[in-house]
Amino acid sequence: MASNAVGPAPGELLAVAVEVADRAARTARRMRAEAITDVSTKTTDTDVVTAADRAVERQVVEELRRLRPGDTVLGEEYGGAAAGDDGGVRWIVDPIDGTVNYLYGLPQYAVSLAAEVDGTVVAGVVRNAATGAEWTATLGGGAFREGRRLRGSARTTLDQTLLGTGFGYDPARRAHQGAVLARLLPRVRDIRRFGAAALDLCMAAEGALDAYFEKGLNPWDHAAGGLVALEAGLVVSGLGGVPAGPDMLVAAPPAIFAELHDLLTEVDAAGGP
Ligand code: IPD
Repeated sequence: MASNAVGPAPGELLAVAVEVADRAARTARRMRAEAITDVSTKTTDTDVVTAADRAVERQVVEELRRLRPGDTVLGEEYGGAAAGDDGGVRWIVDPIDGTVNYLYGLPQYAVSLAAEVDGTVVAGVVRNAATGAEWTATLGGGAFREGRRLRGSARTTLDQTLLGTGFGYDPARRAHQGAVLARLLPRVRDIRRFGAAALDLCMAAEGALDAYFEKGLNPWDHAAGGLVALEAGLVVSGLGGVPAGPDMLVAAPPAIFAELHDLLTEVDAAGGP
């Protein structure tokens, strides 16, 4: 765990992330299996998800404290540290991304864990807790799925683009997102909504989706997956030259990005509540 003046190496942080995410994914899967056999004793379905979300995040935070005592953590369930600028490491964790899939037993939910130094994500892992599939990346070191280097889609035109997206939970936001979708659908090959942003970004990184966009993501939804997509060679950005953030995240191969960017601007994808 040696730190030095230039901060810990991304590879060192990735090794910690992989170890912690692996155990976290096992906990998520085990808790789901137990909840199924025990479902009559739970008050509501969502209690099952909330309990698992919290337990997995607690486990991640405790393990990071043990393995990297000086670091801070930002998590979906418990909140936490603001981004620093002192060379310290901030971990960003989504204990279960794809909570609705988790609830229904759809095998598309993941632990997402990223390490950030001075506001830049330098290492990240996304582990599908249902299947064990794992995507990793380090800044400048490439993106990989279980040892295979990822390079994104080779698609070059928007009308041939399989476009992933997602929707927020707020009904007013969803109404706007639905209207945007109606205008996009005739202009692309098709749309996919799998329900876990971290995994969507990894699918774009490996070319299983040609591109992906979403409004309203939180840092824990895209910190690790965004680095995987970036390191696979995709452009990961907001609209109008601003960085990806809550208003918009677009991840697309360079050959598609400009056309997709302009279409998303035209249909006001970053607008609405
Ligand atoms: C959600 C998923 C979903 C995306 C939402 C996210 P959660 O995260 O990533 O795919 O469309 O915007 O909030 O609630 O499952 O952790």
